[in-house]
Amino acid sequence: MKNYKLAIIPGDGTGPEVINEGLKVLEAISEQCGFKCETVSYDFGGERYLKTGEILPDSAVEELKTFDSIYLGAIGHPDVKPGILEKGILLKARFDLDQYINLRPIKLYDERFCPIKNKKPEDINFTVVRENSEGLYKGLGEFQNKGTKDEIALQVSHNTRAGVERCLRYAFEYTRKYGKKKMLTLCGKTNVLTFAFDLWERSFYEIAKEYPDVKTDYAHVDATTMWFIKNPEWFDVIVTDNMFGDIITDLGAMIQGGMGLAAGGNINPNGVSMFEPIGGSAPKYTGKNVINPMAAICALSMLLKEIGEKEASEKVETAAKTVVTTKLKSLAAGKMGYSTTEVGDLVVKTL
Ligand code: IPM
Ligand code: MN
Repeated sequence: MKNYKLAIIPGDGTGPEVINEGLKVLEAISEQCGFKCETVSYDFGGERYLKTGEILPDSAVEELKTFDSIYLGAIGHPDVKPGILEKGILLKARFDLDQYINLRPIKLYDERFCPIKNKKPEDINFTVVRENSEGLYKGLGEFQNKGTKDEIALQVSHNTRAGVERCLRYAFEYTRKYGKKKMLTLCGKTNVLTFAFDLWERSFYEIAKEYPDVKTDYAHVDATTMWFIKNPEWFDVIVTDNMFGDIITDLGAMIQGGMGLAAGGNINPNGVSMFEPIGGSAPKYTGKNVINPMAAICALSMLLKEIGEKEASEKVETAAKTVVTTKLKSLAAGKMGYSTTEVGDLVVKTL
């Protein structure tokens, strides 16, 4: 029997609550599909930082490298200055584990939950491949004349040929394998960011020659946000840089029904990946058993696919979708018609 080692980082706020439901589902599906998961839980997050000053030590990163995958709840604590935990845990894990892809599927399960009129599940079903290790997130820049009226703040988008190419290659492979229309759209801003997206665009069309079966398309990022609302059915797979990917995937989460459903994977195709609901720690709902655990359950489905348990992954997604379409009154916290734990139980029962 296959035995996987998973690191669990429940994190802050509602993170532990949604991860608990995910783990319930994991237990049921592993039994059903005949594999084992050994889990080790880590308490990195706001509480530990406030108590010990420790964020995510290098030794922990080394330990994380020994797992088959990482399952993360949420990072962010109301008593910790914004940026410390996000940079120190989430971004550090992404960078140090070289999870250079951030994969974010945008799927509408039920048109009742779509804020756009007349859009159906077949209209909103695409994936964003976000570069996850470079760009503005590299943190390059400086202040000049800080604190004076002549102050200048520079924030540099750092794009390497190798970093761009590996992301594009992943996106082309992904489109070839999973794309419903076999169409990859580069989302950029070639009309203004004439260095960064010049490199992206040149690399894109160069690599496209290796994928004659994949159609290519280009959209500026501002137009992309317009199309998300107006004609989301146009998209199949979108590839973009780190910052634009961050922004458009929040919009994507909204058109699929909200953060309650939005899952993402931080992927190192040759190493250890990390899966998370992308909604954050939701302090005001913490401990109330009202948060929607579906995003965490969908993140689990992505995790299962990545470690090679395809059938289990599909079963979890189908069960999640069934519960969303046949049971839930809303996807928002406190309005689902069920509590957090009840939603987890419903998914287990549906499995
Ligand atoms: C996300 C989040 C993070 C990001 C923050 C918390 C650093 O918004 O995963 O999209 O900007 O990548
Ligand atoms: Mn974000």
